[in-house]
Amino acid sequence: MTKHELPVPRKIEERDAPPAPNMPDMSASRRKALKMGIAAMGTLWMGGGAYAASRTPEGHESNVTDAPVTNVASPKDRVPFFGKHQSGVTNPRPANGMIASFSVLAETPDALERLFRRLTERCVFLTQGGTPPDYDPRLPPADSGILGPVIPPDALTITVSLGNSLFEERPWLKPHRPLRLIRMTRFPNDALDAALCHGDLNLQICANTQDTTQHALRDILKNLADQLVLRWMQEGNVPVIQPGPDGLAESARNLLGFRDGSANPDSGDEALMNHLVWVGAERKEPAWALGGSYQAVRIIRNFVERWDRAPLWEQEAFIGRTKVTGAPLDQPHGRESDTPDYTKDPNGEKTPLDSHIRLANDRTPETQDNIILRRPFNYFNGVAKNGQLDQGLLFICYQADLEKGFITVQRRLDGEPLEEYLKPVGGGYFFTLPGVARKGDFFGSALIAALRA
Ligand code: HEM
Repeated sequence: MTKHELPVPRKIEERDAPPAPNMPDMSASRRKALKMGIAAMGTLWMGGGAYAASRTPEGHESNVTDAPVTNVASPKDRVPFFGKHQSGVTNPRPANGMIASFSVLAETPDALERLFRRLTERCVFLTQGGTPPDYDPRLPPADSGILGPVIPPDALTITVSLGNSLFEERPWLKPHRPLRLIRMTRFPNDALDAALCHGDLNLQICANTQDTTQHALRDILKNLADQLVLRWMQEGNVPVIQPGPDGLAESARNLLGFRDGSANPDSGDEALMNHLVWVGAERKEPAWALGGSYQAVRIIRNFVERWDRAPLWEQEAFIGRTKVTGAPLDQPHGRESDTPDYTKDPNGEKTPLDSHIRLANDRTPETQDNIILRRPFNYFNGVAKNGQLDQGLLFICYQADLEKGFITVQRRLDGEPLEEYLKPVGGGYFFTLPGVARKGDFFGSALIAALRA
């Protein structure tokens, strides 16, 4: 159905439908009312400097796409670095993020190991914070100084992912490539700029403030100058909101003005994340890849001037949710956390069949393996050459299987009416390395061991 064939808005029946039958309710949003009822909070800093997200009664963390809450973030927020999985995937997203994509200069296993060890050392220091060493004044200072003499952790996470080209172009690495890692190919609505695509290695750098993400990037550029060459980067952020009077957590809004993340799976549910996001033994990936994840990145320009002239009914029909509250269109007086019931709307009279959310996830048993964990940021790149605002979504998502996850969902979205307002211009597919288990370990240590075996 094209824009012009969309039905005029109907008065939508007010009712409170239960979740669709047969469907596991995987969304984090349903838990929001519960968890935020206990305490209106976003990210808490515990006295000892440990970073802890808000917790549900079941002990789950906030969802990754909850909006950060004003005055809750602190420079002392510290996200643990060591663990089975890397940080920056399932932990709640702070207000700022970027993807920086690099070419890797390493041409031997030894050189790759040196890179991974050095990168680990910098990431441990930067994410945990501390005082840089004093250097001889005749040398450049150890630190750029932009955060002052002591580096605060500021909820910094640096998530390391590898691109297909790293494996493809090195015969000694190629046999170890994650099974489902491929080079991103063009989708019908894409207008990809080669200068904004792919890369051997990317860093997703997230923190409370942009100063901290920029500081981390400059530190890594300086300390790994002989090992990494920056190819492209895209910064983004999410709006920080006032705590609501009802204490409910809200998903942050994207630049179309809609809440983004409402139906994201619950990132605090470990079993669910093991199924959907983290690579487990059942995936038959190389052993070194266990505990990693596939990352899809897309830089998606939003034609905001055009969108701002589109009628509200059309905006809501294209997305499939109400703009103000984020409630599904079949429960317009409900909440963002309500689950649409498509079984009662087989012809799309309430939620159009080609609305974004219905195409992305029709909530049938067949499509439950296609659920992805989205962790996007809004971006503002100033003015394009034609005088229009260059703004959009730095779309990032994680899944245990790239083909079943992002690629399948994007194929279903191909040709959606919303494309009239979107233009993907960059991005790539990457494999997010497993975590660094403990002190002394380093990124990709299992891959290096496999190379040597
Ligand atoms: C600029 C581009 C995009 C915008 C503005 C956008 C916006 C939205 C909005 C407003 C929602 C409803 C709230 C929510 O559940 O999060 C949503 C849901 C969703 N989007 Fe997007 N989206 C974009 C791109 C994508 C892409 C590229 C994918 C994947 C290929 C995707 C996958 C999804 C999924 C899976 C859902 C949840 C559907 C559900 O389970 O009900 N989106 N998006």
